[in-house]
Amino acid sequence: MQMQRNLPLFDIEIAGRFDADAEIVLYNGDVDDFLAAVPDKTVSLIVTSPPYNLGKAYEKRVEIEKYLEAQAATITQLHRVLQDDGSICWQVGNFVEDGEVYPLDIFYYSIFKRLGMSLRNRIVWRFGHGLHAQKRFSGRYETILWFTKSDDYTFNLDAVRVPSKYPGKRHYKGPKRGKLSGNPKGKNPSDVWQIVAEEWEEAFWDFPNVKSNHPEKTVHPCQFPVELVERCILALTNEGEWVFDPYAGVGTSLIAAVKHERRAMGSEKEAQYVEIAQERLQAYFNGTLKIRPLGRPVHVPTGREKVAQVPDEWRDDDVSSDEG
Ligand SMILES: C[S@@+](CC[C@H](N)C(=O)[O-])C[C@H]1O[C@@H](n2cnc3c(N)ncnc32)[C@H](O)[C@@H]1O
Repeated sequence: MQMQRNLPLFDIEIAGRFDADAEIVLYNGDVDDFLAAVPDKTVSLIVTSPPYNLGKAYEKRVEIEKYLEAQAATITQLHRVLQDDGSICWQVGNFVEDGEVYPLDIFYYSIFKRLGMSLRNRIVWRFGHGLHAQKRFSGRYETILWFTKSDDYTFNLDAVRVPSKYPGKRHYKGPKRGKLSGNPKGKNPSDVWQIVAEEWEEAFWDFPNVKSNHPEKTVHPCQFPVELVERCILALTNEGEWVFDPYAGVGTSLIAAVKHERRAMGSEKEAQYVEIAQERLQAYFNGTLKIRPLGRPVHVPTGREKVAQVPDEWRDDDVSSDEG
């Protein structure tokens, strides 16, 4: 478990409405109402996972065209509050209707482009477990669209480098022959992120049937890991800048922001999630919040675990499975 900063116990101040002087703002209500109070060019990074229109507990499913129309109106306001060197990281998966898959990032792309934004990366967030599809291949990734408002944007690559696989590798020809070819600070983490442990994936997909065994899991059905947001925050903002999650859920992005000395802002319409977010933020400052450590390697089974063995029942040649 990650050790947290050993801070003295105190009640943190979380402003319930936008306040330019606050360190943390968490609004309980509709994002559009919240945005009306936020001045132009305030925020350095908007990082979020919007409602996918899948009919989850917190959303009413509507036709995809209507859903995107409403999202486009909100995104126009998000663009307004973004600083000129700011970024938006929009994390989405698929909308599925009658067995047909609609990758949401494809639909969102033109909304951001119409606002004049530039796509810098389409990050694939890959995981190893999930529901087994019956009539198509099982889905094992979601994406983050990283758009910038201008060509002059913050990108702190050194803050998010990962250890090189072969740090001792050298140039084998040319003028640099024999010299080390890597960077002592590590390598670029690339646009494919497998940064969550198996235990997260199991908790994410199996909830609520299986009791979560991931340290961060709450009752929220679509919570994302703190670690996912941390990388965006470290790379795309500087200390003291505002990070905003318009669909804040249980406050994951806000926790990642305060963990790295950024100012945190969020809006969330469900009071229950806001309450959990407040508790998690308080727990973070008390040093009691459990967070999976940034950059911990993804667990790879050794093959000796009981669940990694072919069960006796399946050693029979007649066996058939209904799983994908
Ligand atoms: C995919 S979840 C985000 C979860 C979040 N990333 C976390 O880790 O907890 C989307 C959230 O948006 C909230 N939401 C949906 N529509 C909203 C709206 N119009 N205004 C504010 N929040 C909204 C939902 O209640 C839900 O908690």
